[in-house]
Order: sequence, then C-alpha cells, then structure tokens
Amino acid sequence: MCFHYENGELYAEGVALERIAQEVGTPFYCYSYSKLAANIAAYRRALEPFHSEVCYSVKANSNLAVVSAVAALGGGADVVSGGELFLALKAGISPDKIVFSGVGKTEQELEQALRCGIRQINVESAEELQLLARVAQRTGTRANVALRVNPDVDALTHVKITTGKKENKFGVPWPEAHELYHAAAQMPSLRVCGIAVHIGSQLLDLEPFRLAFTRIAAMVRALEADGLSIENIDLGGGLGINYNVELPPTCEAYAQVVRETLGELDKHIIVEPGRSVVGNAGVLVTQVLYTKQTEQKRFVIVDAGMNDLIRPAMYDAWHSILPVHRAGTAPVVADIVGPICESGDVFAKDRIIEPVQSGRLLAIMCAGAYGAAMASQYNFRPLPAEVMVRGNEYAVVRRRSSYEEMLEGQSVPSWTGDQQ
Ligand code: LLP
Repeated sequence: MCFHYENGELYAEGVALERIAQEVGTPFYCYSYSKLAANIAAYRRALEPFHSEVCYSVKANSNLAVVSAVAALGGGADVVSGGELFLALKAGISPDKIVFSGVGKTEQELEQALRCGIRQINVESAEELQLLARVAQRTGTRANVALRVNPDVDALTHVKITTGKKENKFGVPWPEAHELYHAAAQMPSLRVCGIAVHIGSQLLDLEPFRLAFTRIAAMVRALEADGLSIENIDLGGGLGINYNVELPPTCEAYAQVVRETLGELDKHIIVEPGRSVVGNAGVLVTQVLYTKQTEQKRFVIVDAGMNDLIRPAMYDAWHSILPVHRAGTAPVVADIVGPICESGDVFAKDRIIEPVQSGRLLAIMCAGAYGAAMASQYNFRPLPAEVMVRGNEYAVVRRRSSYEEMLEGQSVPSWTGDQQ
C-alpha cells in the first residue's frame, strides 16, 4: 500500500507525511518508489508477449530520482527536448532505449540526438524530415526515423490534451504520410525504422486506441507491401488514471487491444506512458494557512498554489484532497485555494471535506504526473521540494531553492536607472 492511513495518519509507504512535513517544510511532493515500480512492472508484464520497450514519458515527471528509478527498473524514455534527452542519459537510460518525439525539435536538438545514437526520432513534418536528413549528413551519422502520423481519431478526453485529430498540430497528416515515407526512404542519411502515434492523454476508453492502432496496422501493411520495412511501432502514451471515480483500463486490457490490432505484424512495440507510471505514485502535501468564512463561501487557504500544481486551473482537473490527520468529524463544503494572486488559483471548488484548521496538512492526491514537472516560480515562489519514499526511508530528491538561488542567472544592466 503506497498512500494509506494508519491510526488516522496518512502515510507514504512506511513514512508518515506529517513527519516529512516537519523535516522538509511545505509544500512538497512525495513520491512512492514502490508504486512507481509496480506501475512500470504492470506495463512490462502486460507487454511481455511482445518484443517491447516501456519508454517512460519524461515530461510527466522529470525529477532525476524518478527517471533514475525508471532506468533501474529497466524502462526506457520518451523525450521531447534536448533537456529531457540530457536528463534521461544522466539517469542512466541507454540511448537505444530512448525515443525523441515533439512537433518542434530544433536543429541543435536533432544533432544532440544523432550524436548519442538514440533508438528513434519521431518526425512530425516534411520540413523536419528534410532538416534531419541534412543534420545527419553533416554529422556523418544515419538517423533512425519514424514518422509520427496523425490518425485523425478522437481520444474522447479533455480538449487541451487531445493530440490525434486532424485539427491538432501533431504528427504528419494521414493522407501525406505514405508519400513522406517514400521520400524518407530515398534519403541516404536516414534509416526508416518505425511508425509512431499518440492520440492524447488521460484516455479512459480503449476504443480510440483500437481505432488508431487499426489504422496504424493498415499503414504498416501498405508500407511493407511497397518494400519499406518497419521495425518499431510506437503507440505513444495516454492511458488514464483514477483521479476520482474513473475506471481506467488496465495494462492487460490495453495490451489485449495491441494484440488484436497489431499482434499479427510481430513488430517491436514501444509505449510511452507518463501519467499511468507516476500519476498515482505522487501526492502534493500542503499546509492550511487560514480558513475564511464569507457570506458566500468557506475558504481553506493553503500554502501550495497553482504555480506548484497547475492542473486544476489549466484543465479543470479534479484531484482528491485528503487530510493528513483524519479526525473523522462531519464534513463541510469548502473551496480549497492557494495564495497566488489569481482567482483561478483554486484546487477544489465546493469540495466536501472534513473541517481543517490552520496549521493542519492536506494531501492533494494523484499529483505525481504533470505536477512538479509543470511547476513554476510564479509570484517568485520557490519550486516545491520533492521527496521519494521507499519502505521506511525517505530522501529529499529536490530541495526547495533559496531566494538567492532563485536569482541565479539574473542580472541588472549597468544602465538601469540612467535618466536618458
Ligand atoms: N507521448 C507523447 C508524444 C506525448 O505527447 C505524451 C503526453 C505522452 C507520450 C505521455 O502521455 P501520458 O501517458 O502521460 O498520457 N499536462 C497534461 C498532460 C499533457 C500530456 C502531453 N503529452 C495534464 O496534466 O493532464
């Protein structure tokens, strides 16, 4: 059990969150190593019948300790920037387990990827393909290329995290993909090795996957009939998690869809899960600063803000919020809000919650994915601290920065204050 109550106190594995709060201060993210490991293992088990690679999507949580844990557990990485590539390598993931996605890779990033010889670069446009061919030629390398195709499938998820419809910026448009593959095959500095797709995030229904994978299977057959060979089929990420009352598909059910749609092709299957690896392995712990009762509402004002966890403000996301010390008193209705000077800085509206006083701690659940990774210093607040728990031990895996450190890299021009 990763996050659970013992005698009314919320624990991360064998460590009381209250104790971490006392030692580290709030707000902080807390990750459960064992939950992360179980999530990776679930993917690996489900995909065992295939030649496969679980390439963790680093964007979901780019803490070095998290990515290093993934590496130690045998995972690869899906990266979308030079920074993430650097990080994945630092964490010990070998280049042949790294795929590089993204609609806007720069020339330097492509060069960086080529020089370290990663498994596959997922190209998203004809112009990117041309540039990659030039960079590969200039650096005397041969680029392992897949086209990320846009299958025009509705993932039935939030509009801001839908990526596989034709009006989205992602991927090579379906009608152009076949021809672009032929163009790629003619370029001597490229080695066509795969096909990639990613239709969106927080999918709770397997049917959009089935539709997309069926289209991919048809494309692979058509390409192979034309003499091209495809080794890797990269299915992207997207499997949802349970934030509230959702019933996300299991890895086994997902793998069953992979088997039914792509099994006969007998290819190397790559998946790029992010949220379903780290989402429920992390919580954000925050302290109640004040409570305030107005004519309209009861507010619980906490010391974490939208700069620490932007998902509710950005996607209207629902995160369960639990008292770290459960008193068992009758619940009230309250808005749980942060200190940021914006009305959108709300973690929960009209939430039914046990009354909490100033000084008490709350845990915002399922915050391991797209939490710390999307945090900012807005309102000039330090990034939250991050800790990882394993069994009865915990370690600070990112300490809270000091104000002086937050100023690092900034400077004031000598002419500031000149009158002319
Ligand atoms: N592969 C590609 C190419 C992606 O664009 C993404 C996510 C993933 C894999 C991982 O998807 P996952 O398994 O995590 O669903 N910030 C948003 C989510 C943005 C997802 C962006 N792409 C949120 O907090 O809901």
